[in-house]
Order: sequence, then structure tokens, then C-alpha cells
Amino acid sequence: MSGHGTAIPMTARKSGPLKGRAEVPGDKSISHRSLILGAMAVGETKVTGLLEGQDVLDTAAAMRAFGAEVTQHGPGDWSVWGVGVGGFREPEQVIDCGNSGTGVRLIMGCMATSPITATFTGDASLRKRPMGRVTDPLALFGAQAYGRQGGRLPMTIIGAKDPMPVTYTVPMPSAQVKSAVLLAGLNTPGQTVVIEKEPTRDHSERMLRGFGADLTVENAPEGRIIILTGQPELKPQTVAVPRDPSSAAFPVCAALIVEGSDILVPGVSQNPTRNGLYTTLVEMGADIDFQNPREEGGEPVADLRVRFSSLKGIEVPEERAASMIDEYPILSVVAACAEGTTIMRGIKELRVKESDRIDAMARGLEACGVKIEEDEDTLIVHGMGAGGVPGGATAKTHIDHRIAMSFLVLGLASQKPVSVDDGSPIATSFPVFEDLMAGLGARIERANK
Ligand code: S3P
Repeated sequence: MSGHGTAIPMTARKSGPLKGRAEVPGDKSISHRSLILGAMAVGETKVTGLLEGQDVLDTAAAMRAFGAEVTQHGPGDWSVWGVGVGGFREPEQVIDCGNSGTGVRLIMGCMATSPITATFTGDASLRKRPMGRVTDPLALFGAQAYGRQGGRLPMTIIGAKDPMPVTYTVPMPSAQVKSAVLLAGLNTPGQTVVIEKEPTRDHSERMLRGFGADLTVENAPEGRIIILTGQPELKPQTVAVPRDPSSAAFPVCAALIVEGSDILVPGVSQNPTRNGLYTTLVEMGADIDFQNPREEGGEPVADLRVRFSSLKGIEVPEERAASMIDEYPILSVVAACAEGTTIMRGIKELRVKESDRIDAMARGLEACGVKIEEDEDTLIVHGMGAGGVPGGATAKTHIDHRIAMSFLVLGLASQKPVSVDDGSPIATSFPVFEDLMAGLGARIERANK
């Protein structure tokens, strides 16, 4: 919902060793897609382990507005009765996607090739984010978009009556854009082709195939070529959502930087298009045991045993950026607690996330006494070693859950407490963050407690 509520100031203090088991919630990307593809299938899709963060709840409400029946049976346990490809009805109300770029961009894609009109909005963060990156390719199918200047929400999409199949090379590394084009291709006759120069998370491809779409992927010199045959009848599925590697990153990184910690984070997706952070942490010297590797819900998963480690700075290879794009904020916290310098290049996409994440991390780290360098596409953090970060500042979170959680993790290992001006956005992706961290022994409190 777009009404960003009362701010919740929070503070994290130097903590004793973190110990225990951290069961993080379901993957956000897969949760959105299970509701959307469920709504486009004919019959009942069952979902277990659904992330019940606000972002996903907003997508559930949107799918209801387009005519699907979406029901919660118990915690994480949901059903979607879909209306089929091309079966969406016109929503009576504005679709409010709250804080979620994934929600709004994927939903624009899946309605853009039906003869209906829908108006989208979101919270103050989402209303600043560019939608032209999806409405440009959707226009090639024949859809029209009318929004605020700079392609911002609120925005109305008039779906194409007679959609034309499209071949589209995605100009930036973005799974949201790729997915919006593929979803638009579902209700389009013929073949829709998406070319991505750099591989991004592949949940849409895996799940579209799982729901019975005819989709092939070819690795060519110009990139990954994804070919989708339009107008399939999608078959309802049972989706077991694996745990979110992007949420797992917070307890994992906390354990690495809080002295004496030893935790287990079970069932974390190790999908190679998502696990760049874990590769990077190991290169920095992290003690992570990848135990019991197996497949769950069509994704490779492992149980992570994580122990406090003495870490060193590294240069993160640019080509790894897409596989850890959401993890740079927490990596820059780990980098501040490592010996030496960590260089993160090729990350300008961070400037158009829930906030400008390069700026938000740079300003907050500086306020905590950490030396940084930045340019449009780069963040460099000069590490202060384990226990070396002074802290003693309040970071602005700019309605960004990952900025809030990153600075709270920093506070667990810095000399003086670290506060955030507003921890309320954490509920968009990780509603149980405070309880889970407290269960490990982390000292994180709301200011007004
Ligand atoms: C997502 C794609 C990424 C990521 C976001 C989730 C998705 O965004 O940052 O959190 O589920 O497709 P971009 O497509 O903007 O890179």
C-alpha cells in the first residue's frame, strides 16, 4: 500500500556472539512470480513458504483486482485460482504496489497485452523510480503508457488489443524488465524473444517452464536468448518457495562480523543467478560451510553454517554484479569491518533501487566513521577491521528495507550504537527480522520501546 506509515526509529548495539538457527522467510522474487503465474494459469495453484512481506501482499491484492481468487490458508500457505492467459478483467480501482518495483513492473507486463486499462501507483519511493524501462518494450507490443514526467507513477497502461510479438534486447541488466517482456509475450501470438547481454536472476524462465510454457534459452555471443511461444494454457502448479538468499544475507553477514558467532541458516537458495554475495564473502575469507546441498522447489539450496571470520577487502568482479545486485548494501557493511579496501564497480543500477543505494550507504558509512569513495558506478569502502568501526550515528533509510537492515547489522559490531531513522520498510521483505535477530542474540531495539 502506498501510505507509507509512521516512521519506526531503531537502534542496534554491540552484541555478544550470535548463536542458533535463523530460518529466513521465502524468496521475494519467487513469491511475486508464484502469485502472478498462478493468476495466469487455469485452476488452483498452491503455494507454500510464500513470503508474507508487504510487497508480496500488495501483489496478491493486485491479482485479486485483475480477477484471480487469492486465499491464505495458514502461515505461508496460499492458493491462487487463476483466470488463464488473456483472462484478466479490468480493475475497478487504482493498483497500489506499495514499495515494490518487482510487483509493479511484472504486473504491468502481464496486463499490457490484454484489452484492459489499469492505473498503477506506489509509495513515495516507488513513485520516484523509472518505469520507462518497462513501458518502452511494452509499447512495442502495442500497449500505451501515460504517467508523470520521467516515466514515473502514477501511470495508466492501456493494454494492446491486438498485441504484436516482439524481439527485445534488454538495455540494462534487469530481471524485472526481462520478466515484464516475457509476461507480456504470454498473451501475444507468435514468438517473443528477449536477449539479455548479462544473465540476471532466472526465476521467470524456470517458473514459466514449470507452469507449462514453451520457453527455450540459448547462450549466444550476444547474450542469453530467451524464446517464448505465446498463448499457452498455463497449468496450475504446487510451488514450494525456497528461503530468500537476499534476506539470509543479513544474519549471515551479522554472524561474520560479530565476534564469536556461530549460526546455521537452513535451506538458502544457491541459484547461481543469485549467489554472488556468498562467492564474494568466501573470497574475503568468510567461514561458511555449505552443508547438505539439495534441490527444493526447483532451486538448488544448502544449509549455511556461518562463523565469525577475520575478513579482508577484495575487488568484486564487475561481471558478478547482477548475481548480487541487492546485496551491495550489506556487503559494504561487511567491507567496513574487513581489513583493507573493498572495491565495488559496475553498480550504477543501485542508484534506481528502493533508494539511491550508493548514496545511502556512502552517507551512512561516513557518518559511522568509515572512509569511502564513490562515483556514479562505483563504491569503495576502506575497511577498519573487526571491531574497528566507530558507529555512533543515525543513518537515513529513504524508505529502503535493505538500507535499514544493513545499518542495524553494522550496529551489532561497531563500537557505539548505530540507529536508523526509520525501520518500518523492513516489513516489505523481512517482516520477522527483529524477532529472528533477537533469537540469535542481536541487540536491536525500537527507539520507543
Ligand atoms: C528482481 C529484480 C532485481 C532486484 C529486485 C528483484 C526480480 O531488480 O533488484 O529486488 O524479482 O525480478 P532489477 O530488475 O531492477 O535489477
